[in-house]
Amino acid sequence: MSKNITKEERLNHMREMEKRGEILKRDKGYIYPSVLILPSNFHLGEGSHVGAYSIIAGPVSIGNWCLISQHVYMWANEHGLEPDKEICLQPIVEIPIKIEDDVWVGTGAIITAGVTIHNHAVVGAGSVVTHDIPEYEIWAGVPAKKIGDRRTWKKR
Ligand SMILES: CC(C)(COP(=O)(O)OP(=O)(O)OC[C@H]1O[C@@H](n2cnc3c(N)ncnc32)[C@H](O)[C@@H]1OP(=O)(O)O)[C@@H](O)C(=O)NCCC(=O)NCCS
Repeated sequence: MSKNITKEERLNHMREMEKRGEILKRDKGYIYPSVLILPSNFHLGEGSHVGAYSIIAGPVSIGNWCLISQHVYMWANEHGLEPDKEICLQPIVEIPIKIEDDVWVGTGAIITAGVTIHNHAVVGAGSVVTHDIPEYEIWAGVPAKKIGDRRTWKKR
């Protein structure tokens, strides 16, 4: 797309893709057919989509108008790490992940348990996000750190 579109145009585009079988309706948004969502509480808001080959595990809530790119992993659960017991025999603890509205998560990013990505934030491709990201901030890297802010971002 070389120009801004309206929310209605985005929704129409997604409905057309759904009719062609390219994406599937999931909650209020859409996912690509190759997305794996393991059984748990999952919420996907209006106008949002989850890209191909992404995996979502544990309680995850994604707000409205979010772009979750391809191969994004969100793991909202952790294994116990007690030293005197095998990890695979320890209980799994669910720690919810929350993605607020208008968030873009770049391809190949990993979001770990308990993270909140606040409204309008961006996660760079290939990042591992281990801390909450404040509104409008752009974070990238492993572990992800702030690299910019949408409010001061300049078009190239
Ligand atoms: C995060 C992103 C949006 C940043 O764009 P930007 O604000 O224009 O940032 P810049 O390119 O000016 O980079 C700023 C700094 O962050 C670094 N950086 C940018 N993206 C990075 C990433 N994904 N991982 C690590 N570092 C990154 C740059 O190397 C640069 O570092 P420097 O100042 O030391 O040179 C972009 O790099 C990105 O990752 N886009 C995601 C693309 C994608 O996943 N597309 C899928 C299709 S939906």
